[in-house]
Amino acid sequence: MTRITIIGTGYVGLVTGACLAEMGSTVTCLDIDHNKIDCLKRGNVPFFEPGLEELVKRGIASGRLLFSDQYKKAIRGAQYCFLALPTPSNADESCNISYVLKAATQLAEVMEDYLIVINKSTVPIGTAEKVRAIIAETLSKRGVDIPFDVASNPEFLSEGTAVKNYMHPDRILIGVDSPRAEQMMKQLYATQLDRLQVMDIPSTELSKYAANGMLALRISYMNELAGLCEKLGADIELVKQAIGADPRIGHRYLNPGIGFGGSCLPKDVKALRSTAKECDHSSALFDAILQINERQRQVFLEKIVDYFGNLRGKTLALWGLSFKPDTDDLREAPALYLIESLIELGANVKAFDPAAMQNAKALFPTIQFCADAYEAAEHSDAILLITEWEHFKRIDFSKIKCHTLFDGRNQYDPVEMENLGFDYFSIGKKQPIYERAH
Ligand SMILES: NC(=O)c1ccc[n+]([C@@H]2O[C@H](COP(=O)([O-])OP(=O)(O)OC[C@H]3O[C@@H](n4cnc5c(N)ncnc54)[C@H](O)[C@@H]3O)[C@@H](O)[C@H]2O)c1
Repeated sequence: MTRITIIGTGYVGLVTGACLAEMGSTVTCLDIDHNKIDCLKRGNVPFFEPGLEELVKRGIASGRLLFSDQYKKAIRGAQYCFLALPTPSNADESCNISYVLKAATQLAEVMEDYLIVINKSTVPIGTAEKVRAIIAETLSKRGVDIPFDVASNPEFLSEGTAVKNYMHPDRILIGVDSPRAEQMMKQLYATQLDRLQVMDIPSTELSKYAANGMLALRISYMNELAGLCEKLGADIELVKQAIGADPRIGHRYLNPGIGFGGSCLPKDVKALRSTAKECDHSSALFDAILQINERQRQVFLEKIVDYFGNLRGKTLALWGLSFKPDTDDLREAPALYLIESLIELGANVKAFDPAAMQNAKALFPTIQFCADAYEAAEHSDAILLITEWEHFKRIDFSKIKCHTLFDGRNQYDPVEMENLGFDYFSIGKKQPIYERAH
């Protein structure tokens, strides 16, 4: 029987654990957050991810999905140990791998038999070597000689579609440097061998950053073009259709908007830039991706300020808070920048999000959270569409009295909005010119 331990039971760790249990392994998910573990033992998932709670409940019922906050108990008997720990940005933008190294130390303090330690966190090149060194040092301090391997298996799931992504991956990257590790990883992914790409560890580590960098680049490229469209009277949505039809380009990740956020793209492009700096490699492209992304939110805010002249005393309704739809994750969400800026400019902020309000309440206790999009719009001077949840695509605008809408995600049709009597502003789309409100 395959026994797996996952260290770090967050978005990646819990999805990995629940999916591997579903596929037949016995998995223990370990975390130092005792409340999270207690909650999970009862089958409650502490964050919103479609399909995950059912999977967790099924895993618990089958006896194959276990939770623990005790390293010794969780590691005992395992052959595979995944590291799914946070890797946030340091103050200098480099990647902070201290959580990964701490967990590697903690597992080495208790491991009893051969273990393959597999890194799922997004980490800079060389991290696997650091993990290997710290495990070897810890074992040597214990005076024991236990064989182990270190492998790299970065995760490509997206929040909102994480379970589907994990169960049906486009590819599974495996970085190994020993035949035993390769064989173990092939055994683990035996039912998905057609998706497996086995390579050296540094190439695997860099591939994850390379993928996120490319996605961020596409978004910033479209945002750059959207700005140009507004100046030239072209329509970015038509340009998007035109270039996406080219199979060399494709349609995905070409959405202009108020920029990318989330726990991955911003930090991973920063880490790429930092890695480039460390090895004296000029990185004009990474700078540009990040600068365009920052500017995009500011340009959106400037449009609102420009329309009203002054935001003091104005009431603005945010539709959507999470960094993307189908998640409650607010990490690096553009909404955070906007709420802070709007409050600073003297505006009153109301908000509705289908999943992220609980998290937002902890960050902004003074803003008004509403029961739905309609309540948020009531008595507001403008609506700001921030996150493209399906929910906001089905709005009955005849019920909305506020007639100014700033669409940060190009969700609505300018002509329809005009016909409905709206002053409607989008990103890089052709639209009528309205008179300013002041
Ligand atoms: N969230 C995503 O969409 C996503 C996608 C692909 C890759 N990644 C990468 O995966 C990694 C994990 O991301 P995440 O979003 O799951 O993070 P997360 O913050 O949701 O979860 C990390 C968990 O690790 C726990 N933890 C911290 N230190 C620990 C320790 N010493 N021992 C045991 N548990 C510990 C935390 O309590 C937390 O529950 C990051 O490197 C991230 O860049 C994330």
